[in-house]
Amino acid sequence: MRRLLPSPAEDVELAEAYAYPDDGRTWVRANMVSSVDGAAVVDGRSEGLSTPGDKRVFAALRGLADAVLVGAGTARTEGYRSLRAKPEHGSRRRALGQRPAPVLVLVSGRLDLDPDSPLFHGGAERTLVVTSAASGGRPERLASVADVIVAGATHVDIGAALAALADRGLTRILCEGGPHLLAEVAAAGRLDELCLTVAPQLVGGDGSRILAGPHLDKSVALAQLLEDDGALFARYVRQ
Ligand SMILES: NC(=O)c1ccc[n+]([C@@H]2O[C@H](COP(=O)([O-])OP(=O)(O)OC[C@H]3O[C@@H](n4cnc5c(N)ncnc54)[C@H](OP(=O)(O)O)[C@@H]3O)[C@@H](O)[C@H]2O)c1
Repeated sequence: MRRLLPSPAEDVELAEAYAYPDDGRTWVRANMVSSVDGAAVVDGRSEGLSTPGDKRVFAALRGLADAVLVGAGTARTEGYRSLRAKPEHGSRRRALGQRPAPVLVLVSGRLDLDPDSPLFHGGAERTLVVTSAASGGRPERLASVADVIVAGATHVDIGAALAALADRGLTRILCEGGPHLLAEVAAAGRLDELCLTVAPQLVGGDGSRILAGPHLDKSVALAQLLEDDGALFARYVRQ
């Protein structure tokens, strides 16, 4: 993995290149992948866009996060599981006072989540579910396998959700999408950083983009650009 911007370098250390700010405030980073022609999915999933370099960045970003925030749509489609501790991240996490593994945080209105699924079992930390007071599902169904946070009346309020995570000491947030959740985070003005892999592929079709939702008008600034085997890894920060 080499760095093209801001200053060229070979063999970049990913944990350093993607270190979170050190001021204790909540920082929301998203990590998404897109084809060169803007598709966020191939055959309904992101896997077809991922490259070996993308997998390395994906794993490194999880290793740095306190919490992985993901929409229920992505958790269902991509077969998410609660997160295990990785030995290679142990010493850095201990030095930063982090838990052994990030907490999986699921955002869902309908709560159509199977309590027996790997979303709630096998991980190092208890999964959190963030929902609204008007949730159509039954939060008590999940109470034995997850902590359920109510943030918002009719819809999950992103600011309230992030405040509830901060109350639990979770401030280094990694949002892994999907496009609907990410659009809401951006619309709420809470997307501090977007890590975007541009996979060297043209896929055509009508797959969704990395944000799905109402029109936005937000500027971002390019903070870093890495390259590996033709894939680009851009880090954009909010202006
Ligand atoms: N290219 C990439 O990097 C990337 C990354 C992630 C996902 N994807 C792809 O994106 C697709 C999924 O897209 P998506 O946009 O449907 O996924 P999503 O944003 O993960 O999920 C949408 C769902 O999340 C819940 N949700 C999100 N915001 C909410 C809010 N404010 N309040 C209440 N619930 C909220 C709702 O769940 P309920 O339905 O449970 O109410 C909603 O139906 C998949 O094909 C996946 O493979 C691509």
